[in-house]
Amino acid sequence: MNLNTRVTELLGIQYPIVQGGMMWVGTAELASAVSNAGGLGTITALTQPTPEALYKEIARCSNLTDRPFAVNLTLLPAVKPPPYAEYRQAIIESGVKIVETAGNKPHDHIQHFKQHGIKIIHKCTAVRHALSAQKIGADIISIDGFECAGHPGEDDIPGLILIPATADQIDIPIIASGGFADGRGLVAALALGAEGINMGTRFCATQEAPVHERIKQFYLDNDERDTNLLLRPFRNTSRVAKNSISDRVLEISQKPDLKFEDIQPYVSGLKGKLALETGDIDAGLITAGQVQGLIHDIPTCKELIERIIQEANQIIDSRLAKFIRANE
Ligand SMILES: Cc1cc2nc3c(=O)[nH]c(=O)nc-3n(C[C@H](O)[C@H](O)[C@H](O)COP(=O)(O)O)c2cc1C
Repeated sequence: MNLNTRVTELLGIQYPIVQGGMMWVGTAELASAVSNAGGLGTITALTQPTPEALYKEIARCSNLTDRPFAVNLTLLPAVKPPPYAEYRQAIIESGVKIVETAGNKPHDHIQHFKQHGIKIIHKCTAVRHALSAQKIGADIISIDGFECAGHPGEDDIPGLILIPATADQIDIPIIASGGFADGRGLVAALALGAEGINMGTRFCATQEAPVHERIKQFYLDNDERDTNLLLRPFRNTSRVAKNSISDRVLEISQKPDLKFEDIQPYVSGLKGKLALETGDIDAGLITAGQVQGLIHDIPTCKELIERIIQEANQIIDSRLAKFIRANE
């Protein structure tokens, strides 16, 4: 059972299902498990403390799978920016064939990767950004709706509008991202004009995700209402799971003369890492999307991907086809 699209063809993968870059979660274990299951797994470059460590992580992933995998390079405003050019060089020199770029001002990076024949999936949250990425040579656009975990942008446009609005203006293939967890979502994405789906939160609740069991259970126990949008006043909105830390950040953010220093201690990435590693739900921020409401188990990546494909085929063949037959 297959679903062949321009995305599967371009990336050389079996199924149109991608695991997006995820800070602290996108390691060789998860990326290789997704790729071995027929999707596209992604290593997250900045999860590695140095460009040298990234070389090693990419080599480790190559030993764990002979299928295509990607590396994510996220370009976000930072108090102390990482050495992006060196991470980029590590990706190029390691012979990686697919890169997911995300965030601000990707132009130089995309052009550099393209010079080395690397296929680019550019993940963004607005049609205008998708258009400019297409113009500078991106091969695929991953369009992240307002539902998504992480950075949904500042326009607040949900996938139901954003995906077809992008499809109306973009010629290169589109991957729909934000809010996907099952075959229903995949079929909906295809109907809206995308040729694949990208999932983040759903992959955190799999056997292979390098996340503490208590955090996986937390994703399961939460529902679609259990996220908070932080950093809105700084135009760097971030969707995270509701917990005592994200509630506190929201509370502090009510201050009329809010400064970044007021919330800085709470939003530290290292505290988020601690939460994922130790299972202490209130140790830091835990990135999560509204799709938590659709997560009910902790399967292996293979079980999850095969289930999504099977369900999608069943919906197309039986449920949707039945509506047409009923009118004949
Ligand atoms: C724990 C976690 C960490 C994430 N970190 C990153 C990141 O570092 N870079 C990035 O581009 N996207 C990141 N994302 C976003 C995902 O790649 C993906 O775009 C998003 O999760 C899609 O929405 P969904 O969670 O509803 O599937 C992260 C998501 C999660 C759940």
